[in-house]
Amino acid sequence: MVNKASFAARYGPWAIVAGASEGLGAAYAKELAARGLNLVLVARRAELLQSLASNLSTKYNAETKIIPLDLSAADAVEQIAENTKDVEVGLLVYNAAFSAIGPFLERPIEDHLKEINTNAFTPLKLIYLFAEHMLARGRGGIVLMSSLSAFQGSAYISTYAATKAFNIVLAEGLWEEWRERGVDVLVCVSGAVKTPNYVASEPEQTGGLGDMTMNPDQVVREALNALGKGPYIIPGRMNRISSIIMRHLLPRKAAVKFMGRILKNMYVK
Ligand SMILES: NC(=O)c1ccc[n+]([C@@H]2O[C@H](COP(=O)([O-])OP(=O)(O)OC[C@H]3O[C@@H](n4cnc5c(N)ncnc54)[C@H](OP(=O)(O)O)[C@@H]3O)[C@@H](O)[C@H]2O)c1
Repeated sequence: MVNKASFAARYGPWAIVAGASEGLGAAYAKELAARGLNLVLVARRAELLQSLASNLSTKYNAETKIIPLDLSAADAVEQIAENTKDVEVGLLVYNAAFSAIGPFLERPIEDHLKEINTNAFTPLKLIYLFAEHMLARGRGGIVLMSSLSAFQGSAYISTYAATKAFNIVLAEGLWEEWRERGVDVLVCVSGAVKTPNYVASEPEQTGGLGDMTMNPDQVVREALNALGKGPYIIPGRMNRISSIIMRHLLPRKAAVKFMGRILKNMYVK
C-alpha cells in the first residue's frame, strides 16, 4: 500500500510526464495524480493532453499544465524550461519514444536520428534541466523507460534498442551518483505492453514465447513502487524470468540471434 503523503512529500509537488497523451504515459499521469502529485503533461497531441488534464483535475483534484510539443525538436527542452519556470518539479518521467521498425537500411537516416533525438538526446537534456534543482532541494526522482530489447542487440529495431540501452546505463550511473543525495533514479525495463502504439505496430506473433503482453497500469504501478529501491525494475514475473535466460543463461551471440528471430517473426512480413 502506497503512502500517498510520503510519496508526494518526496517527489512532489509537481511531476512532469514527457509522452503523456496515451498508453503508458497517460497511465503514469493518472497514477501520479492518484498519489497526490500535480502534473505537467507533454506530448504532441494537445486535445488528448487537454482531456487527460481535465480528467485528472476532476478525479484527483490535481493541478495540471499541458505543454504540447514535439520532443524530437532541437529546442524542446528550452520550451519546457520556459513553461515550467513557475512550478517545482520533483519527479521527471520520460516515457516518449520513437521506434523505426524494419530492416536498418530500409528506413531513412532521418528516422534513425529521430530515434536518437526522442529517446536519448531529449531525456538527457531534461535530466540536466531538472536534476540540478532536485539535488539542491535534496529530494526528487527520475524515471526513464527502457525495453527488454535493450539487453542485447535487437535486429530490425537496432537503433531503438541502442537508445534504450543508453537509458539503462545512464540511469544506473546517475542512480549511484545521486542516491545518497536524495534523488532516486530508476529505469523501467519493460517487455511488451498493450499500448495504442504497440498495437498499431501490428506485431504478427510473439515468437513462440506466449502472450506476455502487460497492461500499462500494471507496468506503471510496478515502476513507481520500485522508485527509491534500486536502479532498475523489470515489470512482470515472466519478463524477469525471460531476462534471466537472455542475459545469464544464453551466450550473448545466441541471445542476439534469438531476439532477432523473434523480431523477424513479429515485424518482417
Ligand atoms: N509498448 C510497449 O510494448 C513497450 C515495450 C517496451 C518499452 N516500451 C517503452 O515505453 C514507453 C512508452 O511506450 P509506447 O510506445 O507504447 O507509448 P505510449 O506511452 O503508449 O505513448 C507514447 C507517448 O509519447 C508521446 N510521444 C511520442 N513521440 C513524441 C514526440 N516526438 N514528442 C512528444 N511526445 C511524443 C505520444 O504522444 P503524441 O503522439 O501525442 O506526441 C504518447 O503520449 C517508450 O519509452 C517505450 O520505449 C514500450
